[in-house]
Amino acid sequence: MTSINACKVINLPKISERKGAITPIYAGEHVPFEIQRVYYLYDVPGGESRGGHAHKELQQLIVSVMGAFDVILDDGTERRRVHLDRAYYGLYIPQMIWRELENFSSGGICLVLASAPYDEHDYIRDYLEFVQMIKCTRV
Ligand code: TYD
Repeated sequence: MTSINACKVINLPKISERKGAITPIYAGEHVPFEIQRVYYLYDVPGGESRGGHAHKELQQLIVSVMGAFDVILDDGTERRRVHLDRAYYGLYIPQMIWRELENFSSGGICLVLASAPYDEHDYIRDYLEFVQMIKCTRV
C-alpha cells in the first residue's frame, strides 16, 4: 500500500533573468525515477477536471508550467488537495495513488514526467476497484 505521505512537492531549480526564467529538471536529481515519457495537457477548458484514476506501477512528476490546477490525492484512506500554480514546483506521485486534477485555469498547461510508456493495462479507472485492490494488499 502507498500512503499519500509518499507524494511530495519537489522544489525545482529556477534560473531567473530579466528576460524570463528557466527550470531544468534532471532524472535522478529532482525526479526519483528514470523518465521514460513526457506529455502535457493543454487546451483544457477553464474549470475542467482530468485524471480520475490510479496507476499500478507508473510514477509521475506533475508540473503546472502555465496557470494553475488542483490535484486531489487519495490512497484509499486519506485524501489531500494540492494546489499547483508555479512552474518550479513538481508534485511527485508514486504508484497506487488515486488522483484527480480539478479547477484548471483557462490556458493552463500541465507537464507530466512519467516512469514508463503509456500502457492502458497500468490504469485503474474505477475508484471502488482501486479501494478493493488496496484492501487486498493490506491482508
Ligand atoms: P488519460 O490518461 O485518461 O487522461 P487524463 O487522466 O488526463 O484525463 O488519457 C486520455 C486518453 O489519451 C486515453 O485515451 C489514452 C490517451 N493517452 C495516450 O495515448 N498516451 C499517453 O501518454 C497518455 C497520457 C494518454
